[in-house]
Amino acid sequence: MSDSTAQTAATAAAPGRIDTSKPHSARFWNYFVGGKDNYEVDREIGEQIKEIFPGLVDVAVTSRHFLGRAVRHLAGEVGIRQFLDVGTGLPTADNTHEVAQRVAPDARIVYVDNDPVVLTHAHALLTSTPEGRTAYLEATLYDPEAVLKAAAGTLDLSRPVALMILNTLGHVADYEQGRDLVRRLMAGLPSGSHLVISDSTATSEGMIAASNAYNASGAVPYYVRRVEEIGGFFDGLDLVEPGIVQVTKWRPNPEDPANFAAAVDAYCGVGRKP
Ligand SMILES: C[S@@+](CC[C@H](N)C(=O)[O-])C[C@H]1O[C@@H](n2cnc3c(N)ncnc32)[C@H](O)[C@@H]1O
Repeated sequence: MSDSTAQTAATAAAPGRIDTSKPHSARFWNYFVGGKDNYEVDREIGEQIKEIFPGLVDVAVTSRHFLGRAVRHLAGEVGIRQFLDVGTGLPTADNTHEVAQRVAPDARIVYVDNDPVVLTHAHALLTSTPEGRTAYLEATLYDPEAVLKAAAGTLDLSRPVALMILNTLGHVADYEQGRDLVRRLMAGLPSGSHLVISDSTATSEGMIAASNAYNASGAVPYYVRRVEEIGGFFDGLDLVEPGIVQVTKWRPNPEDPANFAAAVDAYCGVGRKP
């Protein structure tokens, strides 16, 4: 089955599985980054949380800017040509394949998410350059070996891959389980592969209050972590400079929009598998 066929077949099956009675992180995040692919229930909790902690909007927006800078760095300076983006979220401006293929038109990208709403919008993620390739997998982070097996239909897993897990690991309640899932995904990738993570951190009262409000809304909970825990996902890897930092401080460059807060409750890192 070609990538586009796989996506079309899955899309037809998706709508009945969409729960519009509870907020969902992909749609809630889409609302925060200014998208339109969200429901009333997502906007309601979004507005409540903006009142509790407006800084979460900065986290969502600046984390996407970090994604752009990390992918440009990896596709450009490092020469990575394959990306595995787990917990993709809803398509927005500058998705991973668009950023990567602007630098390297032959780049291949596999998107992975388990949310049926993301699946229904996946066509916007499959707009590859002719030289490159994109694919969308409906799969779960909780089964890393199955993700790797399916990704191997598009990516050559004997060559370096950048594994991207942005603002998604907070869904895994148990930190050690989260570390294990990341370790198992990286175990299937060769030396020279990279891990890219960003996530919200419990670094302010406001962020902790926002997290509590979100988790009380009926949505699948999202746990904000300590900065040291973000670093712990990179054990065994060589951290790329500047290490684990706020998402706004990871290799900032003049091309980034200037209108964001310099300090945010979200940390990130990029690590290389030796
Ligand atoms: C807050 S969004 C982040 C989206 C995007 N990575 C970003 O940073 O803008 C979290 C995403 O993780 C996805 N997700 C949650 N649990 C997942 C799982 N077990 N497997 C794959 N994706 C999952 C959600 O559907 C959602 O799209």
